[in-house]
Amino acid sequence: MSAQGEQRPVTVATLKAMKANGERFSSLTAYDASFASVLERAGIDVVLVGDSLGMVVQGVETTIPVTMDEMIYHSQLVGRGMNRPLLMVDMPFMSYATPEACLSNAARLMKEGGAQVVKLEWGELQLDMVRRLSECGIPVCAHLGLTPQAVHKIGGYRVQGRDDETAAKLREDAIALEKAGADILLLECVPMELAKEITAAAEAPVIGIGAGPDTDGQILVLYDILDIAPGKRTRFSRNFMVDNDSIEDAVRDFDRSVKEGSFPTAEYAFK
Ligand code: KIV
Repeated sequence: MSAQGEQRPVTVATLKAMKANGERFSSLTAYDASFASVLERAGIDVVLVGDSLGMVVQGVETTIPVTMDEMIYHSQLVGRGMNRPLLMVDMPFMSYATPEACLSNAARLMKEGGAQVVKLEWGELQLDMVRRLSECGIPVCAHLGLTPQAVHKIGGYRVQGRDDETAAKLREDAIALEKAGADILLLECVPMELAKEITAAAEAPVIGIGAGPDTDGQILVLYDILDIAPGKRTRFSRNFMVDNDSIEDAVRDFDRSVKEGSFPTAEYAFK
């Protein structure tokens, strides 16, 4: 039975069971209690308090200025608005730059913010940190592919893993992270075939954003699907308000489209 049908809180184990049964799951970002309650009513399985709040709530240009205290504050707001969805929270830029900082900040997100999973962006240093968090009983999502906190190093928001060498490295990293204890993998802006291969090879549930139709779950930034984010909408996102009369119907449409496999189509993916 689907996580939605059971109406029991979604856990990491629920997502693993859904993957094993070939069931897709849905995920969106939220930053406050009112939107969190809409997402819950519409059947969304995983709600991410993303550091994208820098751009879509605070109006800054990147995720880099977002602080730990802001992430904790928004997690508390979101947690008050919902019960069933799994609450995943981003560790902001530089909050996991050393093992000590990583552990104490992940603990703050859980103890003060109510996070049920912490998400960090992949870099070579993170393997040990994922292992350590996992040993401490902290569920972790490892974000690979386009990692927005590294935008200035990457040189822009670009698709990752397009050539053989970088694709092989992404495959290797995903499996190494899973072995180190990552409970969930998130792939952003990678070619759809590569995402399909990683999803098939990994036991952990894989969430995609701009990674094609074959990942176990799909996530988008809520304000993108409602077409209220400042600036240009990303190519892999769809405006779900076009065919719907209310925000809740648009979110329900996203949830249904992900679960029945009609979103994303190749039009929203990279080759
Ligand atoms: O911060 C965020 O919203 C994210 C998603 C783009 C996955 O990390």
